[in-house]
Amino acid sequence: MPTEFISATFLNPSTEINPRPNPVTIDLDYFVRYARALDDYEFNYTLVPYASSYFDPWTVGATIAAVTKNLKIIIALRPNTLYPTVAAKALATLDQVSRGRAVVHFIAGGSDADQAAEGDFVNKVERYERLEEYIKILRRAWKSADPFDWDGKYYQFKQFSNLVRPANGRDTIPVSVGGSSDDAYRIGGSLADIFGLWGEPLKETKEQIDRIYAESAKAGRPEGDRPRIWVTFRPITAETDDLAWEKAHRTLAALKETKGGGIVRIGTGDSKTAPAPQNVGSQRLLEIAGRGEVQDRALWYPTVTATNARGASTALVGSYKTVSDSILDYVDLGCELISIRGYDNLNDAIDYGRYILPRVRAELKEREATSNGSKTA
Ligand SMILES: Cc1cc2nc3c(=O)[nH]c(=O)nc-3n(C[C@H](O)[C@H](O)[C@H](O)COP(=O)(O)O)c2cc1C
Repeated sequence: MPTEFISATFLNPSTEINPRPNPVTIDLDYFVRYARALDDYEFNYTLVPYASSYFDPWTVGATIAAVTKNLKIIIALRPNTLYPTVAAKALATLDQVSRGRAVVHFIAGGSDADQAAEGDFVNKVERYERLEEYIKILRRAWKSADPFDWDGKYYQFKQFSNLVRPANGRDTIPVSVGGSSDDAYRIGGSLADIFGLWGEPLKETKEQIDRIYAESAKAGRPEGDRPRIWVTFRPITAETDDLAWEKAHRTLAALKETKGGGIVRIGTGDSKTAPAPQNVGSQRLLEIAGRGEVQDRALWYPTVTATNARGASTALVGSYKTVSDSILDYVDLGCELISIRGYDNLNDAIDYGRYILPRVRAELKEREATSNGSKTA
């Protein structure tokens, strides 16, 4: 499978380092421009994130489908927000209107407070159990139009028959799971097509991949059917390493000043009210941050500490070459989906599109040509 790039969706110019007065207002011109820039610069996917106080991802996803051609749309979905039969149809509908570009990224729920805000009071173990049931229902609903009953712990229904199929005659839509807890590895490893991770050092990333693959094998999936690995960074890049480090320190100063405001807090709760994030992914990031500022080639942790590991927060700092080489280190580890978004969203996406994506792709192409050449030699 090829290496692919992911960004996130931004609906207005507010950023963590340059907050606008009302970050939850759509600036349609900006939103469309950002989505089209990702398409034009050949990003493969954009994530439509979810938080209790944030926009409806379905309307946002359908709008992206209408204004782009190739960009795949990853809808972040918390099972508590939508009955699974409804989600199966909603995703298949989006898949049809986008000509096969829908992907779903499941979030069990990393913050009790953010779950409670929308009436969800089950504990985290149960949230993962429920997610498992939910994914099985969706897979079944997409596969067969025959009516079926469901009598599970969390869902019961009778004679649901789904006539809304995924596009292009497929019997599924790609399913992604994100998280870093044992339950996340187990459910993602056994049921997901894609497993989403935050940016950790190479050693720890490898350990996580091994755990996911072990769960996948335990579930009886052959090697060729393991989840593809998605890893997430916030690159701070410029023409030279020195310029990139200057930019990184400016970014950090701004993050400290704004306390990471200017975007909606996703996944980990509010860093002011919830000093210790409940999700394991953020706890791991903070623990690794305690070991030193720079890990491996260019992985930078002060942005993690400054935002209390709120969502994807590890930076990669360096020249276009350094950042591309760092990404290739993760490709070599087995990561196929590379999520990169910066701190100056639109300008960074354009920089990555101009200088990072082509460089990584060219290097991979070169390697492929060399290995094909050496095979035929
Ligand atoms: C790549 C990626 C994207 C994520 N996107 C979201 C999101 O949009 N909204 C959200 O609430 N959580 C999001 N999360 C957070 C996790 O899914 C969440 O913390 C998880 O449910 C519990 O994590 P844990 O198993 O590490 O404890 C994302 C996680 C990853 C790795």
